[in-house]
This record gives sequence, structure tokens and C-alpha cells, in this order.
Amino acid sequence: MQSYYVWDPLVRLFHWSLVILFAVNALITDPEARLHELLGYAVLGLIGLRLIWGIVGSRYARFSSFPPSISGAVGHLTEIATGRTQKHKGHSPLGALMIYNLLITLTGIGLSGYLMTTDMFWGTEWPEDLHEALVTWAELSVVLHVAAVIFESRRTQVKLARAMITGYKEVATGETESSP
Ligand code: HEM
Ligand code: HEM
Repeated sequence: MQSYYVWDPLVRLFHWSLVILFAVNALITDPEARLHELLGYAVLGLIGLRLIWGIVGSRYARFSSFPPSISGAVGHLTEIATGRTQKHKGHSPLGALMIYNLLITLTGIGLSGYLMTTDMFWGTEWPEDLHEALVTWAELSVVLHVAAVIFESRRTQVKLARAMITGYKEVATGETESSP
């Protein structure tokens, strides 16, 4: 086995804090309570931190190491369809698209939540409708995200969730890795 250090502590802390805050706000808190707003703002804060880290952070944390790429995603799907396994040190092309989707959706949830607390669109329903629609979209995305992590972990024999805890991806010796 060969170990590659890919996720620095900030990425890991960001990820698991986001998982907890999102789950608590989507499933537990009373949406009308102050706690819901505070946790929602904490999510926005985490995303803000991640955006900065995506520019100045460690190699695999930087957005430049996983740019959104349709051709990359098609290549990744072809790889799955043809049974080839190429291991990715950082985020895979499909993983990257999901990450941008989640970051944008969560930002939209936070902003629409904030709009509901202001008088800016008083008397209109759309901020609340948008908030609810984005939460539903985020929930569907998370289900797909977790399913993809399980599927890709089995297909590539790399324990992806474990890597998000330890920081290290363990790859069988002799297997080539694409970079990133
Ligand atoms: C138990 C459930 C979850 C597991 C096991 C999990 C696992 C993972 C793994 C393994 C990665 C890295 C993927 C890769 O190797 O490219 C990742 C990335 C990511 N996940 Fe999750 N995830 C979970 C839930 C969530 C939830 C609920 C959210 C957000 C609402 C989320 C948002 C993200 C984001 C934003 C990234 C990118 C991390 C970064 O680069 O900073 N995940 N997740
Ligand atoms: C990750 C962040 C967030 C999640 C997952 C989330 C989730 C939810 C959910 C599930 C609902 C209930 C929707 C329904 O009735 O079907 C809701 C409603 C609401 N949320 Fe959020 N929310 C988040 C952030 C925020 C923020 C940042 C604010 C405000 C600062 C906010 C304010 C509200 C308000 C005012 C409602 C409507 C309450 C009512 O029914 O009158 N949310 N949110």
C-alpha cells in the first residue's frame, strides 16, 4: 500500500463541520428559531473560509487542482462504463462537479434564508420557496454524493470516506495514479 496525503486538516474540519451543521439544520432545528439562523450563518462562514482556502490552501485543496470540466466528467463516466479504473489523487472530475454544486447550493440556501429575515421582499413568497427548493436540491445532491463515494470506493478500491478523516488516500502499490 502506498499513502498519499491529500486532505489537509482545514479541508477535513470544513467537511465534517459542514456535514453536522447541514444535517442539524435540515433535520433537527425549528426553522423559525434563532438557532436555525445561527447555524445557517455558520454554514455560510464555513463556505467563505473554504473559498479563501481554495485559493491559498494546500495543493489538493486549491480550486485550480479540480477545475469544473465537462470533458473531464465525460472521461470519468467513460472510465466507469468501460471498466477502467484510474485513481485520482485529489478530487475526481465528477466529484469536482458535485462539490461546486454543493458549495453554490448551500450559499443559495444561506442567502435566501437571510432574505427571509429582512423586509426587502416583504409580502412575497419567493425567498421562502427558493429556500425550500434549494434545501430539497441539496438533500438530493447529498444522497447522490454519499452514494457516489460508496460506489467509487468499491470501484477504485480506495477508501474515500476514510481519506476524508485521516487525510491519506491508500492505494495498492504499483497502481498508477493520475494527477491530480
Ligand atoms: C456521511 C456522509 C458523507 C460522506 C461519507 C462524505 C464523504 C466525502 C468524501 C470522501 C469527499 C472527498 C471526495 C473525493 O475523494 O473527491 C467529500 C467531499 C465533499 N463533501 Fe462530503 N460526505 C458526506 C456528506 C456530505 C454533506 C452532507 C455535505 C454537504 C452538505 C458534503 C459536502 C462535501 C464537500 C463540499 C466536499 C468537498 C470538500 C472540499 O474539497 O473541501 N458531504 N465528501
Ligand atoms: C444549511 C443551511 C440551512 C438549511 C439546511 C436550512 C433548512 C431549512 C428547512 C428544511 C426549512 C423548512 C422548509 C419547509 O418549511 O419546508 C427552512 C426554513 C426556514 N429557514 Fe432555513 N436552512 C438553512 C439556513 C438558513 C438561514 C441562514 C436562515 C436565516 C438567516 C434561514 C431561515 C429560515 C426561515 C426564516 C425559514 C422559514 C421558517 C418558517 O416556516 O416560517 N435558514 N430552512
